[in-house]
Amino acid sequence: MLENKSVQLPEKRTNYCNDLDINDVGKEVTVCGWVQKQRDLGQLIFIDLRDRTGIVQLAFDESVTLPEYFKMAFSARTEFVLCATGLVRERSSKNRKIKTGDIEILVNKMTVLAESETPPFEILDDTNVNEELRLKYRYLDLRRHSVQDKIIKRHKIVKIARDYFDENGFIEIETPILIKSTPEGARDYIVPSRVFPGQCFALPQSPQLYKQLTMLSGFDRYFQVARCFRDEDLRSDRQPEFTQLDLEMSFADSEDIMSISEGFLKKVFKEVLNVDITLPLPRISYSDAMERFGSDKPDTRFGLEITNITNLLKNTGFKAFLSTIEGGGSVRAIKVPSLASKISRKEIDRLTQWIKTYGAASLAWTKINDDGTASSSYEKFLTENEVLSVRQKLNAQNGDVIFVVADKKNKIVLESLRALRCELANKFSLIDNTKLDLLWVVDFPLFEYDEEGKRYVAMHHPFTHPKFEDIDKLETEPETVHALAYDIVLNGNEIGGGSIRINNRDLQKKMFKALGFTEKSAEERFGFLMDAFKYGAPPHGGLAFGLDRLAMLMLNCESIRDVIAFPKVATSAELMSSAPGKIEEKQLDELGLSLQ
Ligand code: AMO
Repeated sequence: MLENKSVQLPEKRTNYCNDLDINDVGKEVTVCGWVQKQRDLGQLIFIDLRDRTGIVQLAFDESVTLPEYFKMAFSARTEFVLCATGLVRERSSKNRKIKTGDIEILVNKMTVLAESETPPFEILDDTNVNEELRLKYRYLDLRRHSVQDKIIKRHKIVKIARDYFDENGFIEIETPILIKSTPEGARDYIVPSRVFPGQCFALPQSPQLYKQLTMLSGFDRYFQVARCFRDEDLRSDRQPEFTQLDLEMSFADSEDIMSISEGFLKKVFKEVLNVDITLPLPRISYSDAMERFGSDKPDTRFGLEITNITNLLKNTGFKAFLSTIEGGGSVRAIKVPSLASKISRKEIDRLTQWIKTYGAASLAWTKINDDGTASSSYEKFLTENEVLSVRQKLNAQNGDVIFVVADKKNKIVLESLRALRCELANKFSLIDNTKLDLLWVVDFPLFEYDEEGKRYVAMHHPFTHPKFEDIDKLETEPETVHALAYDIVLNGNEIGGGSIRINNRDLQKKMFKALGFTEKSAEERFGFLMDAFKYGAPPHGGLAFGLDRLAMLMLNCESIRDVIAFPKVATSAELMSSAPGKIEEKQLDELGLSLQ
């Protein structure tokens, strides 16, 4: 076995592996890194040495290399850590696959800084090793350039954000991580207090109230790379702890905030991806987004828009549709051009079953063949006129397929067709993956009705300012009130959201009342904010980008985990350290807690 010769670096590193090229031939250099691969050709040994920048070949020639170093090279195994010094020379057989492929380093001195056991998987850029194993050994997974690259680009996004907001007069202010629990939205992560037995801190779901208070403090423009914590069910674009690029501005209206946010996106897309974004970004109202795409974060990279055909069928003899319409529901459709020859009956049957997971009872369909003949699950129940008017409204041509969903709950119709639109677009490759479709969704309702809790909840959060012209309706017709709120969407994902905030004590009180808080509970939870409003609260508003989501989409990753160094899995566990874990009796005692 080789022994670790040294704790100190034997030589000063002169270059990163990937720095070297044909212009360095003849120079003596020192590189440090991990053994990617060792090839023993008898009198010649080659080692591919990897550091964060790339790979360079080390060469050992028995006829010139000192025996001590030749032996070391012979015994070196993958993932050993080496420091090697030598002369750069031109390679006899070039490797076009790597940037340093024209040269190699003929080693004349080397130290093994650390040995390695055989790793549980090979460190290759492309791997089919399962994610669970990779996350258990995440520090090894992160050695892969393809993974490291995403973390480095994420760093670049943050750096650009810091520079951009600094240049625009924003002050980076850290807000507390241990705060008072004010559950509204997702569930809080709770931290029991030792000093106040029976009482708890919560981890912030966002720095919302603190950033508003920095506006009351007169900082005028706030920015933070803010860690946020939400105990909610995970999806591929959600993590229980995540990072926001969080901003707030005083004396600003929605236009100012949207414009400063767009400026950041323009800069970050240009500098990271070399993509030019045209500003101002398109805007769509919440109601249009819902009507046309069934979603408040529409993916506009493809068509297949939803069409409401309820009016055409309100006198229909087809009971299934009629009872839906009479029950206050709707019948809506999407048309997929030129799909008839591509979709099988079996696939339609699969979709009919699949759509039930979105609450729809069934999926009606019409397949218009290229020769004009058609097969349909519902047209036989309609009059000729109805069939024609539906087809006309959808502008359906030969070769097209129509899908129809009817339900008494419009929410189910829209959600089913939203999902169907995306499913078909994915399945039949209708999405242009080179597209980066950014848009604002505006004119959100202030409230949505929570069927379970039987009360109104804030669509964004309780601090969102209603549109000025709607303030009077806050108590009488809350469902008609619109918010001064805006979300930013990229390829069908919400990458940020914000609003103008309430800065008036009475209006904030009204808002809490509309949300069903008693005066006492509003005071208990948010008294400090309402008190602050007594002392000169400037008009203000802001926005938060989801950094992880933004990075995931910009870097074309399938999962948010790919852009997080040590992510959590769907159960919220962190596989490498096995968090969460049990805590000791002594800790529980100190906290005055007992666990079942
Ligand atoms: P919101 O709740 O919309 O707004 O969050 C802002 C953005 O954060 C991202 N995001 C998440 N990313 C990963 N995992 C999660 N669990 C997660 N939850 C949210 C999304 C989202 O658009 N305080 C307000 C912002 C404001 O009004 O200024 C807020 O937190 O990309």
